[in-house]
Amino acid sequence: MGIFNVDLKKVVDDSYEIEIGFGLEDKLISDLKNGLVGDITKFAVITDSIVKKLYADLILSKLTEAGYSANLFVFEAGEKQKTRRTKEIIEDTMLEKGYRRDCCIIAVGGGVVTDLAGFVAGTFGRGVPFINYATTLLAAADASVGGKTAVDTPLATNLIGLFHQPQRVYLDIATWKTLPKRQISSGMAETIKHACIASRDFFDYLDIHMNEILQIDKEKCEYIANENCKIKYQVVMKDERENGLREVLNLGHTVGRAIETVSQYKLLHGEALSIGIVAEVKLANKLGYMSEKERDEVIEVLKKANLPTAIPEYIDREELVRKLYTDKKVKNGTLRFVLQKGIGGVVEFQSGVFATPIAENIAREIIMDM
Ligand code: GLY
Repeated sequence: MGIFNVDLKKVVDDSYEIEIGFGLEDKLISDLKNGLVGDITKFAVITDSIVKKLYADLILSKLTEAGYSANLFVFEAGEKQKTRRTKEIIEDTMLEKGYRRDCCIIAVGGGVVTDLAGFVAGTFGRGVPFINYATTLLAAADASVGGKTAVDTPLATNLIGLFHQPQRVYLDIATWKTLPKRQISSGMAETIKHACIASRDFFDYLDIHMNEILQIDKEKCEYIANENCKIKYQVVMKDERENGLREVLNLGHTVGRAIETVSQYKLLHGEALSIGIVAEVKLANKLGYMSEKERDEVIEVLKKANLPTAIPEYIDREELVRKLYTDKKVKNGTLRFVLQKGIGGVVEFQSGVFATPIAENIAREIIMDM
């Protein structure tokens, strides 16, 4: 008997670039030609039933014209499809079509597509490279950047997944023009969240220019795409695996994720997040971290973005309180919240600790009050 030491210390360089621009389909092809994923020539383009016609068909034909072997894998649009079952169907179809480890996945779509396709990429053949081509503001602001991939379960969102960083991310702002207004507003919630945690100036910019942003003004949208990346990058580069700091990106998500599930996805992610941010600012004000004026400013900006700021009547409040316990920040059965400090900062409760235990009765009080 004895101990055999398996020495596997690793130095990994998972760096990648995020390209922000308008109509980036040709840029994607030229990057592939220039060796973005080495000598891989086989691509699986994963998309949903809406984005297929708008952008994925075009990307597929450009890949084929460029001499690559490529197929589309399409699932029904909507958060309800972000499941293990959809993942399994895509994987089995890829296997049937002869895909093995020598392929690359290209996710073309919003957050549901990039989360799901990234997860497929992380486990297919024990991991293949993937590229995110983000076609919504929500994916551009959050989902496609940072390497979090996941599917939902009946219990809650994003419970099963892995960290798997993309080879490159394309944020094609031209695609935002085809988004329904409701989806633009949903994406704004993650953008407002970034301003709340990191930049008073960015918050004021959103407040002043909200209408132009909602009308997809080119220059304003480019600015917010850049700011979102900058803020998210500053966090992810310091704490990729969410051991501490990355929890700040969860601001508003304790209530937000719970309400998204309890609404049975009638609420879009950003709509649920908006309500979660309101719960959080009310809590931060109650605990003395935000003034009433700051709390109300945040609520007003969410309203300007046409986002909901109250819990809909049809939500069962007690079910919502129970659902809070599915949050990934829960520790030893205790709810933990990230809280804003004023606007543009977060509370660091101890060195490197950015979420604090909150008693259930306090969380319930906030929820009952909304
Ligand atoms: N969406 C939160 C994060 O990327 O950590």
